[in-house]
This record gives sequence, C-alpha cells and structure tokens, in this order.
Amino acid sequence: MSARVITVAQQKGGAGKTTVVVQLATALLAGGREVAVVDIDPQGSLTDWMRVREHLARDARHLRFSMVGGWRLQSEIDRLTREADIVVVDSPPHADTDAKAAIRAADLVLVPCQPSPLDVWASKSTLEAAARSGREVRLLLNRVPARGRVTEEALAAIAKQGYPALDARLGNRQPFVASLARGLGVVESDPRSAAASEVAALVEETIPLIG
Ligand SMILES: Nc1ncnc2c1ncn2[C@@H]1O[C@H](COP(=O)(O)OP(=O)(O)OP(=O)(O)O)[C@@H](O)[C@H]1O
Ligand SMILES: [Mg+2]
Repeated sequence: MSARVITVAQQKGGAGKTTVVVQLATALLAGGREVAVVDIDPQGSLTDWMRVREHLARDARHLRFSMVGGWRLQSEIDRLTREADIVVVDSPPHADTDAKAAIRAADLVLVPCQPSPLDVWASKSTLEAAARSGREVRLLLNRVPARGRVTEEALAAIAKQGYPALDARLGNRQPFVASLARGLGVVESDPRSAAASEVAALVEETIPLIG
C-alpha cells in the first residue's frame, strides 16, 4: 500500500504548522514507521530543523526529507509515498498554488489553530479549501494555556461554526520549542513530559483517520 499523506496547513502565520509537523513526524518515527517530511514553505523552518538534526545522524535512513515546490511538488510527494509509510507536509502561511496542491495531495489535512475565537475564524478558508478538495480535515488546537477563558470561547466558536476538531490538543509548553531547537521532537527530548503525552494522543487520534 502506498503511504498516507498528512498535510499541515493554515493560512494564518505562526499557528504552529512547523511545530506540529516535527512533533508528529518524530513520534511516528519513534513508533517504528518510515517517515518523510516535506517542506514547501520558502521560509524553510522545517529545513532549518532538519539541518540541525542531520548533525545528530540519528535515523537518516528512516526519516526522509525534501524541500520542494512548483511543478515538482506532486511528483516528489508521489516518490516519497513509495519510500515511506507516512508523508508529512509543512506548508506556508498562505494559500498559494503549492499550498493548494499539498492539500489536494493529502489524505488528511491538519489545521493548527491557537485557542482564540479570532484564530478559529481565520481557519475558515483553510478548512474550506480542504473540504472543497474532498479531504479529511481537522482543526488542532495548539498552544493551549493551562487555564483560560479564551480556550472555552474558542471551543464555543468551533462548535458554533460546526468545524471538525480533534480531541487531542497541544499545550503551550516550552519543550515543544526547546526540542525543535535541538533538531528533535518532544518524544525524543522529553519522553516523559506532558508535551510528549499530548503528542502520543495526537498520533493515536490521527492514525485511524488516515486508515
Ligand atoms: N505548543 C506550543 N507551545 C509553545 N510554543 C509553541 C507551540 N507551538 C508553536 N509554538 C511557537 O510558536 C511559534 C510559531 O510556531 P510555528 O513556527 O510552528 O508556526 P507556523 O504555523 O509554522 O508558522 P509560519 O506560519 O511562520 O510557518 C514558534 O516560535 C514556536 O516555537
Ligand atoms: Mg512554519
């Protein structure tokens, strides 16, 4: 069976796309899967992370990487689906041709969103783009504070709009930031942390969605 493709997309900048790609990919890797990560964002944040990781030479054979865009995007994703079990695509904070192509190439689109009503509303265009392409799509609340009324308001906004959202959420946690700086994910850098438990729950909920 060819690999499943998860595209992490959100037009709004800084919502946590690259963070989610890294945390998800490293958790899948730790679970014994062959993983490929694809950076289609010219900002190259995922590429920067990969560069730090390369120095660790941990698992180059099991984690493939590609920075690609333009006319080669689809063929590159196709190539990686033959080599890996799961391909995770990081996309730019807008809806250009590449971002749309990455959504079309996906079996599942994850839309990270910070827990505020404004951010929920700003997710509309990405959710609609995925729905138009007939893709499974889920909002993923990210940087959720330990407590806070805005989270409740964000959940109310999600419910009111009828947006599909994961039960899994990622908290606003320092290990998510620190692990990236070291070329790692939290399952590797802080395996017993609350952050790692959240990522494990994210994987558990995501896998059935991609079949
Ligand atoms: N769960 C989290 N806890 C703490 N900090 C976080 C979390 N998620 C993301 N951040 C921080 O928020 C900032 C934006 O995250 P990230 O770069 O992953 O977002 P992005 O959607 O990829 O941004 P862009 O749209 O620029 O590509 C980064 O500084 C990151 O370290
Ligand atoms: Mg990014």
